[in-house]
Amino acid sequence: MRFKNKVVIVTGSSRGIGKATATLFAKEGAKLVVVADINDKESEKTVESIKKAGGDAFYAKCDVSKEEQVKQMVEQTIKKFGKIDILVNNAGIVFDVPFEERTVEQWKRTLEVNLIGVFLCAKYVAPHMKKSGGKIVNVSSTNGIDSFSPSSMDYDSSKAGIIILTRDLAKELAPKI
Ligand SMILES: NC(=O)c1ccc[n+]([C@@H]2O[C@H](COP(=O)([O-])OP(=O)(O)OC[C@H]3O[C@@H](n4cnc5c(N)ncnc54)[C@H](O)[C@@H]3O)[C@@H](O)[C@H]2O)c1
Repeated sequence: MRFKNKVVIVTGSSRGIGKATATLFAKEGAKLVVVADINDKESEKTVESIKKAGGDAFYAKCDVSKEEQVKQMVEQTIKKFGKIDILVNNAGIVFDVPFEERTVEQWKRTLEVNLIGVFLCAKYVAPHMKKSGGKIVNVSSTNGIDSFSPSSMDYDSSKAGIIILTRDLAKELAPKI
């Protein structure tokens, strides 16, 4: 029970790595896992499976690239449980498209979700974590370190950005977070 009584937000946890992360937090004793995602149906299923496993969870519909929605998701969590101990910035998107077909819209959307979304979630949880301490985990990728798949160059750039953003945040938010 490594996370007993912790309040945890996992973005993008309706499926995949986020769902597995959220479920594991619950199994390790987290008091509450917030499923912050945009997929209503799958997010409700994640909440159900966490509850079945003996944990508690709620779905906060939140597009991490939208400042007002992030603000509301954080406020909702504080209202319910009075604190946030851990934020996992996991939500991410990728468009695998050849260079010639790649559009500015795809670039913008990828950066908005993958990079600005991480900043926004950190920005709104930080004031709460600063009081009693907390942890922020940002999910990058090996694609942010080297070129494995040029057809996802905007994704790769966003993941490289997450690495330096994480280092800057670590300095900015130390020592409490
Ligand atoms: N799968 C891999 O092999 C791999 C490798 C390295 C890194 N990652 C990273 O791990 C994370 C999860 O990957 P995955 O494979 O589980 O992805 P996935 O596509 O299975 O799940 C992504 C989740 O994010 C949610 N999401 C998408 N846009 C969102 C938004 N704007 N706001 C909130 N939620 C949103 C989706 O609904 C979904 O639940 C991503 O950041 C990804 O870049 C994945």
